[in-house]
Amino acid sequence: MKIETIAVHAGREIDPTTGAVMPPIHLSTTFQRAADGSYPNGYSYIRGDNPTRRALEEALIALEGGVAAATFGSGMAAIMAIFQALRTGDHVIIPEEIYFGTGKLVRELFGPWGLEHSAVDMSNLAAVEAAMQPNTRLVWVETPSNPLLKMTDIAAVAEIAHAAGALCACDSTWPTPMLQRTLALGADFSVHATTKYLGGHSDVLGGAVITNTESDFWTRLLLVQRTGGAVPSPFDCWLTLRGIRTLPYRMRAHCENARKVAHFLADHPKVCVVHYPGLESHPGHAIAAKQMSDFGGMLSFQVCPDKLHSGMENALRVANRTKIFTQATSLGGVESLIEHRYSVEGQNSKTPDNLLRLSVGLEHPDDLIGDLEQALASEIVLSNADQADFRGFYPRKSA
Ligand SMILES: Cc1ncc(COP(=O)(O)O)c(C=O)c1O
Repeated sequence: MKIETIAVHAGREIDPTTGAVMPPIHLSTTFQRAADGSYPNGYSYIRGDNPTRRALEEALIALEGGVAAATFGSGMAAIMAIFQALRTGDHVIIPEEIYFGTGKLVRELFGPWGLEHSAVDMSNLAAVEAAMQPNTRLVWVETPSNPLLKMTDIAAVAEIAHAAGALCACDSTWPTPMLQRTLALGADFSVHATTKYLGGHSDVLGGAVITNTESDFWTRLLLVQRTGGAVPSPFDCWLTLRGIRTLPYRMRAHCENARKVAHFLADHPKVCVVHYPGLESHPGHAIAAKQMSDFGGMLSFQVCPDKLHSGMENALRVANRTKIFTQATSLGGVESLIEHRYSVEGQNSKTPDNLLRLSVGLEHPDDLIGDLEQALASEIVLSNADQADFRGFYPRKSA
């Protein structure tokens, strides 16, 4: 079956007691035990498992082509479960360019607990190979990366990890199973903040890990999920499942709009760099074209400085001027968002201070482009000579 059909039908069956076509939300925290002590319907207590969560997990297994899934109360809880399933003294490799929260978790929480890590440029396969140690248990991939949209060749990195007896996990939140077949490419775990595109409407927090092998590591991960208990509520599962039904069609429109916005920005004189893997000038374009079916709804761009303002000042001015793009964090909803990541990430951030990240939503692309056009319009007009100067500062159009 094609993914559109899977998205509509997976994890959904006609309710045997009522005939309801759409699944009910099972709120019961506890389930009846039989006289012999067994649980005839397979459920005993809501934290361990419950029918609404199972429906969501089955849908995720089908979407990713995996064999098992575990859902969590947030994307970070899902990510954390993988690191918690490791052991003290293990070593992990993470990308230099990584979602801020994941990097912080590894450095500030798991570091003191005795998890070693190396941060490498994942686009440099030799660097990944060189960073492997005898105690490396996991290589963490995030592609496209947040917020610079760097691309990692999942198949190549998974091969390096497996050759050394390590596992490979990939944060697939941005591409979603619609655009990237993470498990088929060779990763052992596909991880999602379902808060983003899978939920799709900016109204539910959640996370998931899907695997294609039920190994001992997976058993430990389920221990973290079920005993640790950072699980999603039945209502959250139901909302996420409802979002999944339209995922393929939403992703098509997100990609189409983002492509148009990226081309508009790439031609704009006040924009120094556009980070979008769909642009041929993007250094990761070839990998993106190989491992993704389209280039996604996320992009970022860097605003040029001018005679009076730094690039950061101009970026903040643009973010403050948009009317359709809401200045807010997060991504993957129907509404377009704009965010100055540097000020969100704080002073240790490596994100360029003139960078704005866009989550391109489902509004009409002409309206989105018009909004950015008016926000970029400024009373300060750059002379050709100034523009040439700024181009010396920043490589133009792609980085
Ligand atoms: C790539 C990526 N992974 C994980 C997360 C964390 O997800 P959550 O906010 O649901 O914990 C985010 C949040 O923005 C993200 O962008």
